[in-house]
Amino acid sequence: MTDKLENITACVFDAYGTLFDVNAAAAHCADDLGDKWQPLAEVWRNKQLQYTWLRSLMRRHVDFWQVTTDALDYALDTMGVSDAALRQKLLDLYMQLDAYDEVKDVLTTLKDAGLKTAILSNGSPDMLASAVRNAGLDDVLDVSLSVEDVGIYKPDPLVYQMVIDHFSIAPEAVSFQSSNAWDAAGAATFGFRVVWVNRFGQAPERLPDQPDFEVKTLAALPAIVGLSV
Ligand code: LAC
Repeated sequence: MTDKLENITACVFDAYGTLFDVNAAAAHCADDLGDKWQPLAEVWRNKQLQYTWLRSLMRRHVDFWQVTTDALDYALDTMGVSDAALRQKLLDLYMQLDAYDEVKDVLTTLKDAGLKTAILSNGSPDMLASAVRNAGLDDVLDVSLSVEDVGIYKPDPLVYQMVIDHFSIAPEAVSFQSSNAWDAAGAATFGFRVVWVNRFGQAPERLPDQPDFEVKTLAALPAIVGLSV
């Protein structure tokens, strides 16, 4: 690994798990779910991702809100929870997930330094707009790019290409941040410079192409792209 990424002009972020806490909806329902909240959050997230990959392979795209709802229903079923009001509460909370603590400061630093900033996410435009608004990030992001514009999920290269088309820049001028190691691998294969935000202490994926950097939180990013902080 190098100690810095040179000539970066855009910092692009995965949304769920990277900027926004995917476990926050279930955590906020800990009083209702008791000790089921964590396994429920895990099954919900894993099933949500599996459905994106499976639907992409099946060429049966539906948007991420539908996938998220289907995955929640699977998770509730698995955990033996049948409660329509709680289901609705979990879905409502998913539309306004908490951002991780360092996110706003880091985006502000990058933007103030003149870098372009963007989200590139599986999330539908409505989901992303709601999360960004709720976290107060509108002013520190140039754009939220949603896979809905290409109708297939990450890690299809068409998704990463959206960044190139939007900003008219070369892939090696993009620093892409994701907490999802498989997304980091997809972005590296595409040609982006990649920072894997390993928030959950996961083992590296055995997939083609490794990230340029592995960090614990986004706080390390400004220094990695060469800003003195
Ligand atoms: C996203 C998922 C992969 O935001 O976390 O695209």
